[in-house]
Amino acid sequence: MTAKIPFLRPNPPKLTESLDQLAAIDASHIFSNYGPVNTRLEAALVERMFGGQGGCLTVCNATIGLMLAIRLAIGAVPDKARIYALMPSFTFAATAHAALWCGLTPLLCDIEPDTWLPSAAAEHGLIERYRDQIAVIVPYATFGNNLDLDRYEALSARTGIPIVVDAAASLGSRNPSGANFGGGFSHPVIYSMHATKAFATSEAGLIYCADRVKIETLRAMGNFGFEQPRTATLPGLNSKLSEIAALLALRKLEEFDAVVAHRLSLTRAYQEQLGNWSFQHRTPGSDAQQFVSVLLPAGYPGSREAVLNHLNERGIGFGTYFDPHLANQPYFSQTCVCGDLDATQQVAGRIISLPLSDLMTEADVAKVCQVVQDSCS
Ligand SMILES: Cc1ncc(COP(=O)(O)O)c(C=O)c1O
Repeated sequence: MTAKIPFLRPNPPKLTESLDQLAAIDASHIFSNYGPVNTRLEAALVERMFGGQGGCLTVCNATIGLMLAIRLAIGAVPDKARIYALMPSFTFAATAHAALWCGLTPLLCDIEPDTWLPSAAAEHGLIERYRDQIAVIVPYATFGNNLDLDRYEALSARTGIPIVVDAAASLGSRNPSGANFGGGFSHPVIYSMHATKAFATSEAGLIYCADRVKIETLRAMGNFGFEQPRTATLPGLNSKLSEIAALLALRKLEEFDAVVAHRLSLTRAYQEQLGNWSFQHRTPGSDAQQFVSVLLPAGYPGSREAVLNHLNERGIGFGTYFDPHLANQPYFSQTCVCGDLDATQQVAGRIISLPLSDLMTEADVAKVCQVVQDSCS
């Protein structure tokens, strides 16, 4: 019996190898409330990931980060006519939940069939139709693929609609300047540091924005809306990151370049060995890889179910992100409004998410690819 290969294998820094730093937290008697470890982390992220430009705010997870940023976008006293949050249907439930918690209705648009990013034409069509009713646009940088942020800067300037970027899987993807994707963008960009992401901690998230004033407003919102001691002047909730989670993120930052490089080289091995399968078209610099997504080969007559059963029988873990996409999930089908979703349906119906982790080797990839190829032969 050969060893199983799990779909994801979270690999946060080991707390047992951080005993001195944990003892320092104990000794400080500071465990949260934007403490010293968190402050060091935010400064290190701005310097090392964003070339010193803009500001970073940690949050307890990316879902709460999205809620905060969407709430900032719609303003302290929301315009009652602006009821929609425009976002792709091909994303994770968190994006739609965040909009719904802010009192908005997700307006679901289609994706491009090759990059799986939100389709510019679909967005424009829905903006034409619902323009004065859209409160915020929430594009998703799908699986770490870089969005054209210049296009979104221009779109926001032209329509007056604010942007919140869901970049949950984008830590490790880079701009042409070398900064992490999102660097220099004037609207908030939200990243996840969940255990299953490449930047694995336990539960954590990050908001970046080139505009440091927005970051400081979000910081106050994430601390109960307090701009003055225990006095709410803004909409608020508690999004603060604990010092222990901040320590995990600081440690992950030390090893992160090697993590990204290893995952990228495994992804390239998948691409070489599965040449007859369709991969996501990634824009240059989109190096962050959480897992490896493929579409069933064009014209393949069999069912995806049969392929997945074959993988399961041979001990290969997998996912089908994002099938069902949002519009096909019972809660969202009752609470969202949809545009045309043809490409989304096509991609979601053929997608298979293959294993990737820091602990996998090229030999593991070869084994997965052999089983995948066998499943279609
Ligand atoms: C697209 C997307 N948005 C948001 C999130 C939420 O991230 P978190 O688990 O940190 O709340 C995820 C998590 O996987 C995601 O995939």
